[in-house]
Amino acid sequence: MKRLSPRRLLVVVLTALGLVCAGLSAGAGRAAAASTFPNVVVPAPVSETADGTTFTLPANATLSSDDANTGGYLAGVLRASTGYVLPLTVGATSPGTIALSLTGAPATVGAEGYQLTVSTSGVLIQAQQAAGLFHGVQTLLQLLPGAVMSPGVQPGPWTVPGGTILDYPRFGYRGAMLDIARHFFSVAQVERYIDELALYKVNYLHLHLSDDQGWRIAVNSWPNLATYGGSTEVGGGAGGYWTQADYSAVVAYAASRYLTVVPEIDMPGHTNAALASYAQLNCSGTAPALYTGTNVGFSSLCVSLPLTYTFVDQVLGEIAALTPGPYLHIGGDEASSTPASDYSTFIGKAEQIVAAHGKSVMGWHDITNAGTPPAGAQAQFWGTTTSAPTVAAAAANGTKVVMSPANHAYLDMKYNRKTRLGQTWAGLVDVNTAYGWDPGNYLTGVTGSEVAGVEGPLWTETIVTSADIEYMAFPRLPALAELGWSPWSTHDQTAFDARLGAQGPRWKAMGVNYYHSTQITWPAGS
Ligand code: ACM
Repeated sequence: MKRLSPRRLLVVVLTALGLVCAGLSAGAGRAAAASTFPNVVVPAPVSETADGTTFTLPANATLSSDDANTGGYLAGVLRASTGYVLPLTVGATSPGTIALSLTGAPATVGAEGYQLTVSTSGVLIQAQQAAGLFHGVQTLLQLLPGAVMSPGVQPGPWTVPGGTILDYPRFGYRGAMLDIARHFFSVAQVERYIDELALYKVNYLHLHLSDDQGWRIAVNSWPNLATYGGSTEVGGGAGGYWTQADYSAVVAYAASRYLTVVPEIDMPGHTNAALASYAQLNCSGTAPALYTGTNVGFSSLCVSLPLTYTFVDQVLGEIAALTPGPYLHIGGDEASSTPASDYSTFIGKAEQIVAAHGKSVMGWHDITNAGTPPAGAQAQFWGTTTSAPTVAAAAANGTKVVMSPANHAYLDMKYNRKTRLGQTWAGLVDVNTAYGWDPGNYLTGVTGSEVAGVEGPLWTETIVTSADIEYMAFPRLPALAELGWSPWSTHDQTAFDARLGAQGPRWKAMGVNYYHSTQITWPAGS
């Protein structure tokens, strides 16, 4: 048996005394639910202290916010489902029934955290920055009945448990990737996904904007990329592309939900759409045909051609100018038609071009085969092993790692053999597999502050509609979001599964086409 130090012994005795007292007061007739919040919030908060009271939103409630955007967001959600008027005052001197305040939050909440206090008379969310208020709002919404997410008026009552939640993220990078190249998705479809990601405190949206099957963003200096390279998709459909104004609209919309866009131009492989658009980019001088299949690894930019670097510079320059976020993702995966020495040459030059445009480079972890990336870089691990020596070496030299192990984090893997959509090459990924790993202690030699966070990529070879996106992302995306946000001390599969089940009625109210995993008990009617 482990010996307890005197101090530890004191803690044990005091804890035991506390338990006895709590038991006595419960026995003396206090409300049984006095000391715990309901287990319904995803991601699990850092700490919660319930006080056994409740607050019910009155029909004449008011809102105040120090941030117009977040106040407007909350007002929009609550007005739609409660039918209450809920007047909103921005920067008011006296707090509303629900008050979002940028003063008084403890320093520990940092840039993205918040403190939520529910008393019998109202709700106060305090944060240091607007992102923290927004995350606190998401927690408040999850503490309200699921019908609060309905776009139409619902009966209520709108009751929240009383107490205090203090909350902030474990990792600074909590991402989702959407491939709009294999199948094209519109601005409205991506904005819908952004709204869904925001519910779970995801803060980066990685957009895979180009691949063999399609180029999806207009580039003024190379116009055929979009008009020709964007004219098809997997299966031979019409494809499509975003204008630069479309892309900027998505960036702005994401920012309104506190997500930063990471644009990806995948190079030097996955470039058939570009090579088909410009014959002069090919080593042979001849453009290949457009491609609508699902093979990988057959295309490569021409590494020896000076024009290749003019192309990379102009494309990345235009995208950098449209992108307020710090990262440009250069892909770098599956370049199996690029000889290894050419690959290193190309990645080195692309990394310099990214830096010249004032951005930090992000790439799939294959880029670490080309040596340690420059300072500020992030490598995105997508393998299925727990050992990746070149990634560990880069991490030891300062590269941060975003964890997307395909056998846990790929949202395009099937849940089980019967899943209609998706792929199986990395295995079957049901909810407990998505949740059952620790991003901070997964890859040998990549731990602690070397891990930037977690991302759930959704490749779209088989994904065509928003309903398809939702089916693959929900309920797994919230599992990944919790791994990214919640302290590891909260990690508990049984408790998580119960929290996740509580999301079902919310998704039902919103019309989200989620997969009813048999690993989760979904409340009746959801
Ligand atoms: C990848 O899945 N090729 C990054």
